[in-house]
Amino acid sequence: MGERSEGFVGVFDSGLGGISVLRALVAELPHEDFRYFGDSAHAPYGEKTEAQVLELSRDIVERFLADGAKAIVIACNTATSAAAATLRAAHPNVPIVGIEPALKPAARAFPRGRILVMATEMTLHLDKYHDLARAWGGECEVVPVPCPGLAARIEHGNLGAPDLAEMIEGLVGSYSGEVDAVVLGCTHYPFVRAQIERVLGPGVAFFDGGAGTARQLRARLTDEGLLAADGHLGAVSFASSLDTPDELALYRRFFSMPL
Ligand code: DGL
Repeated sequence: MGERSEGFVGVFDSGLGGISVLRALVAELPHEDFRYFGDSAHAPYGEKTEAQVLELSRDIVERFLADGAKAIVIACNTATSAAAATLRAAHPNVPIVGIEPALKPAARAFPRGRILVMATEMTLHLDKYHDLARAWGGECEVVPVPCPGLAARIEHGNLGAPDLAEMIEGLVGSYSGEVDAVVLGCTHYPFVRAQIERVLGPGVAFFDGGAGTARQLRARLTDEGLLAADGHLGAVSFASSLDTPDELALYRRFFSMPL
């Protein structure tokens, strides 16, 4: 095992949403050290310009690499769409794994189904999503549902509050009882899956990209000889651009809350 395998994996999102991905990463790769950075001071990314998201993502990745990251996970669909290709071109020797809406497994499970893709406006607007829908949508009815405000509201925590339930009702209430599956195409949304299910009714299948991203990271680390040694007990640490004790406590709560 070379010494490159001893570095950490840097994981980031616009805020705390990427913690849903971090949970899948830790489950898949318990021997790895993960450092999570949430850019909560600049959230939501989905309502910024593509150039702004690229700039913010570039700064985070460069800081991770200066600190010795051996790989990066972009735990944000929006930042993946806006920045992954540029970041990979700038750092061709570093595995940079992104996330995309899990339309492929949803369409495989419901080949003629009606599938909602909930995501930020930017994710649904950029080419990556249109390529994905063309490649995997097949004979499904794929319904993009932009959710302005939802990630920003989740950032505030207090997920049981009535205002959040009302917001979700406003976003997807008109599809109640009329969908087969929902793709949670923003990493904040798995934290409100139960609230979405309550609005849409029972029997709806949910898909998110966390587990696929974790498998992809495993494959890249394996290919590059970067997997941590089996005897190593992985550690997880949190940092935020809103670096207050309350914010970090919220991150830890999201890391361990039952979903
Ligand atoms: N969690 C992010 C995503 O997966 C973005 C949310 C936001 O900051 O708008 O798209």
